[in-house]
Amino acid sequence: MAFPEGFLQELKMRNSLTDIAASYINLKRRGRNMVGLCPFHGEKTPSFNIYTENDSFYCFGCGAGGDVISFIMRIENLDYVEAVKFLAQRAGMEMPENSYDDSMARLRKRIYEANREAARFYYKTLYLPVGKEGLDYFHGRMLSDRTIRHFGLGFADDEWTSLTTHLKSLGFSEHELIAANLAVQRKSGNGVYDRFSNRVMFPIIDLRGNVIAFGGRIMTDQKPKYLNTSDTPVFKKSENLFSLNNAKNSGSRTLMLCEGYMDVIAVNQAGFSNAVATLGTALTSEQAMLMKRYADEVIICYDADEAGQKATSRAIPILRNAGLPVRVLTVPNGKDPDEFIKSKGADGPAAFKALIDKSGNDIEYRLQKLRGEHNTDTSDGRVSFLEAAARLIATIPSPIEQDVYAAKLCKEFGVDKNAFMAQMKKLNKRRSREEYRKQQQKISTELSGRGEKLDKDRAKALRSSSAEEALVGYLIRNPDSEKYISSEIKPEQFQNSLMRRFYTYFLDRIRDGKDPLNNTSADFTSEESDKIYQIVQKHASIAQTKKSLDEYIKVILEESAKPKPADIANMGEDELNEYLKKVRESKT
Ligand code: UTP
Ligand code: MN
Repeated sequence: MAFPEGFLQELKMRNSLTDIAASYINLKRRGRNMVGLCPFHGEKTPSFNIYTENDSFYCFGCGAGGDVISFIMRIENLDYVEAVKFLAQRAGMEMPENSYDDSMARLRKRIYEANREAARFYYKTLYLPVGKEGLDYFHGRMLSDRTIRHFGLGFADDEWTSLTTHLKSLGFSEHELIAANLAVQRKSGNGVYDRFSNRVMFPIIDLRGNVIAFGGRIMTDQKPKYLNTSDTPVFKKSENLFSLNNAKNSGSRTLMLCEGYMDVIAVNQAGFSNAVATLGTALTSEQAMLMKRYADEVIICYDADEAGQKATSRAIPILRNAGLPVRVLTVPNGKDPDEFIKSKGADGPAAFKALIDKSGNDIEYRLQKLRGEHNTDTSDGRVSFLEAAARLIATIPSPIEQDVYAAKLCKEFGVDKNAFMAQMKKLNKRRSREEYRKQQQKISTELSGRGEKLDKDRAKALRSSSAEEALVGYLIRNPDSEKYISSEIKPEQFQNSLMRRFYTYFLDRIRDGKDPLNNTSADFTSEESDKIYQIVQKHASIAQTKKSLDEYIKVILEESAKPKPADIANMGEDELNEYLKKVRESKT
C-alpha cells in the first residue's frame, strides 16, 4: 500500500524541489526554469534542468529525471520510503501511521540493525581474552585505545560461528544475515557461517551514522589482505567512502583522499580528520561527486609506490571532471601516509602537516612527472619535454592558469613565449573539437545503452515506439485529451510493451482524477522514471498540437494493423499471397 495521496501532496508542497536541489548544487534561473551542473554525472556545462511549473527535474546529459522524492532517493542513496521519511522530517511532518512498509524497506532496516549489533560485538570481542591478538595488532600499529574507540574497530575471532550465533540469539534470521553479507550459506545448504573470521575489523559508516559494511584485515601475510562486505541492499562500494562521516564534520572544505583504512586512521590520529578512502576499488565518478558535496578541494595522498602513482594519475581527471581542484601530496621514500607518520614518532603530525603544505596542484605534479621522463640536459630532451608540457597545459580549462604555467616554463628554459603559445593554441583547438565529439559519443551511448535495457522493444519497432512515446507524452501534458485518445487507441494496439504499460498507467491515473505526474515515484524504478521524464521533456520542446496528436494516432493504428512476424509464419499460402500483394501495392 502506498502513502495517502493527501499526505504526499502536502509533503511535496512543503519541500520544493528548487529549494532542496539548491542545497546540493548551484542553480541559476533560466526563464521559468532553473539550471545547474548535474549532481548525477560529471559535467562542465549545465544540462540539469528544474521545471518549476510541475516541480520536476530532467538532465539532458545523463537522462536522469523525476520529482523531489526521486531526487532525494538518488542523491541521498535512499529507497522510496526512506526518501519520504527524509522529506517529512525536513518539513516537520508526522509520518502517517502504519503506512507504507514494503519488504525491501523492512529488510534494509534489519540489515542496518544487524550491522550495528555486529559492530558492537566485534568491538567488545577486541577487549576479551579471545581478542587479544587483534588488540595487540592494533597497538603494534600504534593505534591508541581512543582511536580504536573512535572508529569502532573490532575483532572477528576464528570460530566461524561466533557472530552468527550471537545475532541469531538477538532474533535475526539467517536470511537477514546473508542479505547483510555478515554470514554465508554453507555449501551443503545447511545453515550459515560467519563471513569474517580471524580478522581485525573496520566498520564503514554512512553519513547518517548507519553501519553499512565492514572491512576486515588478516593479521598475517595471508591473502586476501583485506576482505570487504560485498554489495548489499544498503551498501554499494563504488558509491561510498570510508570515514566520510568523520571528514564531513571536520570543519574543513578540503578532503584528503587516501588509499586505505589504515592510512585514514593514522592521518586522523595525527590530527587530520578530513581524510577518506575508497573501499578496495579505484576511485569512481560517483565517489568524486559525493566528495564534491563536502569539499572545495581534494588532496590525493596515495602511496608513493608505482601502483599509488598510477592510481593518482587515474584519479586526477575523475576529480577534475567533478569540478574539484586537485593537489597531490608526495610521501617521501616510497612510503604510505601511515608508515610515514609512524616513522616520525612524536613529530608525525608536524611532519605530515609539512607534506600537506608542500603539496602542489595536479598540473605541477604532472609537469614534474613529465620532467622525470625526459632528459632536459640535451636539446632534444628539452624540445620533447616542452612539447609534452604544452599538450598538458593545453588541457587546463582556464586561460589565465594556462598562461601562468606557460610563462614559468618559458622563462626557465629560455623559450620564446609567443612560439610556445602558438603551439598551445593549435593544441587547444584540436582538443576542444575532440572533447566535444567524445562527450557527444559518451552521452549517446549512455543514453541508448540505458534505454535498450529498459525498453527492449524500441529497436524492434522504431516507428510505432516513437509514435507511442509521443502519444504518452501528449497524454501526460494534456490530461483533458484522455477521453479522445482512449476512444481512438486501445492499449493492445501498442507495439512497445513499456509504452503500453505507461499508457495504461496514465489513463488510469487521469480517470481517477489524479494529476498525471504527481507522486509517481513509488510506482516506477528510477530507470522507468527517467524514461517518463525524458518523454515528457522531449515532447515539451516540440510543440504538440491536435494535428500532431492525430498523426501519432494514425501511425500507431497503421503499425498495429501490420501482421507480426509470428503471424506471417502462420499464414496459409493464399493468405500470404494476399498479404504480399498488399505490401507491394502500398510501396508504389
Ligand atoms: P594496501 O595494501 O595499500 O593497504 O591497500 P594499507 O591500508 O596500506 O594496508 P596495511 O597498511 O598493510 O594494513 C589499500 C587498500 O586497498 C584495499 C583496502 O581498502 C586497503 O586499505 N584492499 C587491499 C582490499 O580491499 N583488499 C586487499 O586484499 C588489499
Ligand atoms: Mn599501509
